[in-house]
Parts: sequence; structure tokens; C-alpha cells
Amino acid sequence: MNIIRKISLKNFRCHDEFALDCNRVTTLIIGENGSGKTSVLEAIYMALRGKSFKATDKEILRQEEEFFRAEVELNDGRKIIIRYSENPLRKEFEIDGKKTTRLPKKYHYPVVLFEPNNIYLIESSPSRRRDYFDELFRQIDLNYSTNLSRYNKALKQRNDLLKREDIRAEDIFSWNILCAQYGVELKQTRLKVLKKINELMTSNYQSIANNKDECYIEYLGENVDENEYLARLSQNFERDKILGYTSFGAHRDDYGFVFNGKNADGSASRGEMRSIILALKFIEAEILEKETGKQPVVLLDDIFSELDETRQKHLIHNFKNYQKIITSTNVPAEMQVNMSL
Ligand SMILES: Nc1ncnc2c1ncn2[C@@H]1O[C@H](COP(=O)(O)OP(=O)(O)OP(=O)(O)O)[C@@H](O)[C@H]1O
Ligand SMILES: [Mg+2]
Repeated sequence: MNIIRKISLKNFRCHDEFALDCNRVTTLIIGENGSGKTSVLEAIYMALRGKSFKATDKEILRQEEEFFRAEVELNDGRKIIIRYSENPLRKEFEIDGKKTTRLPKKYHYPVVLFEPNNIYLIESSPSRRRDYFDELFRQIDLNYSTNLSRYNKALKQRNDLLKREDIRAEDIFSWNILCAQYGVELKQTRLKVLKKINELMTSNYQSIANNKDECYIEYLGENVDENEYLARLSQNFERDKILGYTSFGAHRDDYGFVFNGKNADGSASRGEMRSIILALKFIEAEILEKETGKQPVVLLDDIFSELDETRQKHLIHNFKNYQKIITSTNVPAEMQVNMSL
């Protein structure tokens, strides 16, 4: 179950040189605010997913330095090195001696990342929720990742053209076709994966909350076929031209959390929302493992302070079979108990 063996960083955010041996089920990184804990998780995430979960390479490069390097050694012996330099601008991944500009998809490895702001997913903006689920679906389904980048490219072309004064409906028709083609694929994958998530949602929630409350995630978007999608884009042409963007499509859909039949945002309490998100995280790990055939690495960034002791217990218990790398400013209560066993 241990996937990551070692990590070493050079000029990575505040780290001049940093090395950590993490060949164990649970690694706890303790440090003060600003000591560079999240940065370590960021480097691991980059090695496993190909990009940071929050920043560009330029932002990551340690101030006043010319290059950064992150090296992550896996337990199967594979070594992933990320190099970035400015002047000349250069970025490369090196896997087992082979160099590439991007991390090849076959080397992507599933990760469950739990950050404090995930706790607020239910109340956050639709675009944050979209980004959250896009990233999850990308991990679960390789085709989703391809469809999403193709969709975004087509959408950008359509939006750019819509802003031109002399644009006519027929000028954007070919982009409508691509948006419809990829948009339908995205919607279908989202519905398919949400169905799997929802099959596990209530039971996971109930085991955390120890009651009979029910919850699921609703897809807030129309389930249309390619013809209907295309018709909608064509019908909306004049309106979209005035707006300067595409008002219908997969990029506008959202996710609603339903708690006992009502919108959780507005009806569920803070604690209930935390339990719903916790349930979602457990389900992510389960589905990722099932769909990819690989045991995800679990990165818990400063999450213990957000959870009460009961929820901390669930966190440790549910992720007991996964390699966990945990950051915190102090030793969480639940870990003190576990580590003394
Ligand atoms: N490119 C950079 N160069 C130098 N320092 C940076 C760079 N980017 C971020 N930092 C600094 O690195 C430090 C580490 O940030 P990080 O988020 O990893 O800390 P942390 O230990 O997770 O803190 P917290 O407990 O507050 O979450 C911060 O003080 C931040 O200001
Ligand atoms: Mg942090």
C-alpha cells in the first residue's frame, strides 16, 4: 500500500533543500504556519498528477532562484523528476531517465487530496465545484480528461469568434459541432460517475453521522443528446453574440448537494456539511481504486483542525489501508492515540 518512498526538493517555494523519507503508511509532517508543509504535498501531487493543485511553476520557483527541482521516488523503484527553470524558460519531467515536457498519462497516479477549503465546497461558487468535480472525473476516466481539454479548446474558439462584430451564425457552426460532441460526452461521464458516487453517499454519510439522514449529489445540467445540444447552440446564437460568450453547455453545469430532500446549502448545518464532504472523500478513494485498479495516495493538508474527534476517527479508520501523508501544525488528537498503540 506504500506508493511513495522518498521525496526531495530544491528551490521549491520556501524550501532551499528538503528531503523526506515517507515509506510508511502514515507520514505526519508537523510545522508552523508558513514552514512549507503544503508545498511538500504540492510537489507530491505534481509528480503524481502532472501539475500543481493551486499554482503555476513560476509561483512555485523559490524567490531569487533560477530553477527548481522536485524528485519523487516510488516504491516500485520509479523515479519522477520535475525540473523547471527560467532564462531560458524550460520545464521537463524525467521518468526513469526518459524526458518529456508533460507527465505522460500512463504515469498519472490517483490521489485523494483533502484541503481545508474542500470543507466549503457545498457553499462555494459553481465554478469551484465544477473545477473540483472536473479534477475528480479526470482522475477516474482518462477519456474525460481528453474530452475536457478538447471541449475547452472548442469553447474558447467559439467565444473568441462571438466577440467579433461581423460574426455570422455559419462562421461558428463547426465549433458548435465540436462543443456538442465533447459537451455531451462530458455530461454523460459526469452523470455516470455521479450515479456511482450516489450509490455510496447515504451509507457513508450515515456511518459518519450515526443517524438516518440521507444525501446525494444532483447534477444541475440538462441531459441532452448531440442533436439537441447543437440545436440549443444554434438557437442561442444572437443571445450569445450579445453576451460575448456561450451561455449553454457543459461548462455551465453545476452540482447540488441534497440533504434530506433539500438543498444542503441552506438546510444542512456546518457539521452536517463537514460529514457530507468527509463521506465524499471516502467515496473518492473507493471509486478511484475500483476504476483505476490502483490504490490512491491520500494527502491530508491541515484537515484535522477542521474536524472534531469523531470525524478524525472516521478519517483515520476509513483511510487505514491507504498511504497517507498528513500535514498539521500540531499532532492531531486522534493520531496521538493511534501512534501510541
Ligand atoms: N515561490 C516562493 N518562494 C519563496 N517562498 C515562497 C514561495 N511561494 C510561497 N512561499 C512561502 O513559502 C511558505 C510555505 O508555504 P506553505 O503553504 O507550504 O506553508 P505551510 O507550512 O503549509 O503553512 P500553513 O500552516 O499556513 O498552511 C510560505 O511562507 C510562503 O509565503
Ligand atoms: Mg499549509
